Amino acid sequence: MSTRQKIKKVTTHVLHEMKLRKEKIAMLTAYDYSMARILDKANIDVVLVGDSASNVMSGNETTLPITLDEMIYHAKSVVKGVERAFVVIDLPFGSYQGNSKEALTSAIRIMKETGGHAVKIEGGQEIEESVKRILSAGIPVMGHLGLTPQSIHKFGTYVVRATESDEAKKLISDAHVLEDAGCFAVVLEKVPAKLAAKVAKELTIPVIGIGAGAGVDGQVLVLHDMLGINQDFSPRFLRRYHNLFAEILGSVQTYIEDVKNQEFPSENEQY
Ligand code: KIV
Repeated sequence: MSTRQKIKKVTTHVLHEMKLRKEKIAMLTAYDYSMARILDKANIDVVLVGDSASNVMSGNETTLPITLDEMIYHAKSVVKGVERAFVVIDLPFGSYQGNSKEALTSAIRIMKETGGHAVKIEGGQEIEESVKRILSAGIPVMGHLGLTPQSIHKFGTYVVRATESDEAKKLISDAHVLEDAGCFAVVLEKVPAKLAAKVAKELTIPVIGIGAGAGVDGQVLVLHDMLGINQDFSPRFLRRYHNLFAEILGSVQTYIEDVKNQEFPSENEQY
């Protein structure tokens, strides 16, 4: 048997089984081959090629500017680095809103050109038709509710969503719409922990939280935030596992000194 055959790949079915046996799902973002390889080697369950690439890779203030071509570029690189994990790719702003045919065309491009396993789209009842149309082509869809960064100009702020009862009721109803439409999982971003736990209890599909507390079926973070590469973003929900900004800065400074002092390369580092 080849090594390839031995790896048990994560699928939508595996994720559903994890929810049933109450095993938490670990998801992180990646945007390039090298990072994706490390995540996969660590046995991450889901790799999200998030449109947060717009912020952390391209330096944009919001996720709105990133294009479908750019998402495809990132996703292609990530897929090459992954053997086991399930790879989900964000449909970017402007590639699906208000037009389910365009949503399907965008999702088909993503699947055909990247080799990824599923797409993620933001919104509730208003994207129901798009979810169904994408699913009709056999493409799994992950939903995204709560703070949906592609609608930041409608919200006007990145504060916690659904703290008022009307918005909370709409979120619960939207979560059911997404499940009934056929989504295999839903991300809940920056909503009260109690509300997120209620949604996770009511839905049969996995609910993955970011700033949504511990009562959900899994967690997702942006890799550059949790590794401390990006220092510009410090919400309460973010746990920094490392300070890579400082580590990389220190290494680069030492390299510069070594070059200037002619300490690099040494005798052993030349031919
Ligand atoms: O784009 C992204 O990174 C996301 C996560 C924050 C869930 O959508």
